[in-house]
Amino acid sequence: MKILLIGKTGQLGGSLLSLETSHQIYAPGRPELDIESKESCERAIAEFCPDVVINTAAFHNVPQCEVEPLRAFAVNCQAVRDLAVICARMDVQLVTFSTDYVFGGKKRTPYREDDCPEPLQMYGISRLAGELAALATAPRHAVVIRTCGLYGPSGAISKGGNFVDKRIADAQAVSELEMGCDQVVAPTYTGDLAQAVLKLIEHPQFVPGIYHLTNEGECTWFEFTKAIYELAGLGTQVVPVDRGGMSGEMCRPLYSALANTKAKSLGITLPHWRDALKRYIDEKYGFSL
Ligand SMILES: NC(=O)c1ccc[n+]([C@@H]2O[C@H](COP(=O)([O-])OP(=O)(O)OC[C@H]3O[C@@H](n4cnc5c(N)ncnc54)[C@H](OP(=O)(O)O)[C@@H]3O)[C@@H](O)[C@H]2O)c1
Repeated sequence: MKILLIGKTGQLGGSLLSLETSHQIYAPGRPELDIESKESCERAIAEFCPDVVINTAAFHNVPQCEVEPLRAFAVNCQAVRDLAVICARMDVQLVTFSTDYVFGGKKRTPYREDDCPEPLQMYGISRLAGELAALATAPRHAVVIRTCGLYGPSGAISKGGNFVDKRIADAQAVSELEMGCDQVVAPTYTGDLAQAVLKLIEHPQFVPGIYHLTNEGECTWFEFTKAIYELAGLGTQVVPVDRGGMSGEMCRPLYSALANTKAKSLGITLPHWRDALKRYIDEKYGFSL
């Protein structure tokens, strides 16, 4: 299979690129392919003639999307729609990513792929718009994978590092840390996600549409932070705080764990978040229990 990968410098892009696979992967950098430029997307797809385009690029700094809503829509919706138009025309499968933040957080059991989205902030609204645009434009070619709380070896540069790396850095500076106990999530290791994405696109019964892919289980950021320090053998104290999902005037969903029902029906599951976190910390930091 020929795969064109967008976002190779990112967490998920980096993990996809480092998979051992016999597929031919072409991963242009942003100077060659900027998803905000339809021409550069068209050129790269026409030159490489991929079977699949995997788009991991996004504008996903959540507070910044409130400040720059037009940019959020340009990257998360308009650019995804343009990719879908090109892929449908050239008969190429498009795999693009979305977020647990399309949901409103009223449920207390994991959101299924067919649950009704209800985004609470500009980021989630722009991602839902991108999902709809891709699926409506290229119903026979578009695949939307919703995921949650990613961390991976290359860190999230646009967010100043991923959650795990930031907490480990915090432990060098402070002995006690406040962490939110109000949001329930399913933090996901990009190494596991990348493997699941590959299994999904290789699966003979794989069809277009929406899929959820996250590590199994759920936790609050407070519980996740405690696990980071336990697994890394760091003594930093973590104090739970409940902000009711609010960051200033912006609202985050109180519950956004995702049920990976469609991938599971194809036999594709990801390990539990705690298992994934241990592997990430061991691999990146060489800490042991
Ligand atoms: N991180 C999370 O917690 C999380 C949670 C749920 C869903 N997701 C979604 O999962 C996907 C992967 O996330 P991630 O954490 O791997 O992202 P990331 O680490 O921030 O990487 C994003 C990648 O996209 C590239 N990019 C950004 N804008 C671009 C543009 N206009 N044209 C071309 N490339 C562009 C970046 O390149 P540069 O190096 O040039 O900036 C980078 O390589 C995204 O769709 C994200 O929204 C992430």
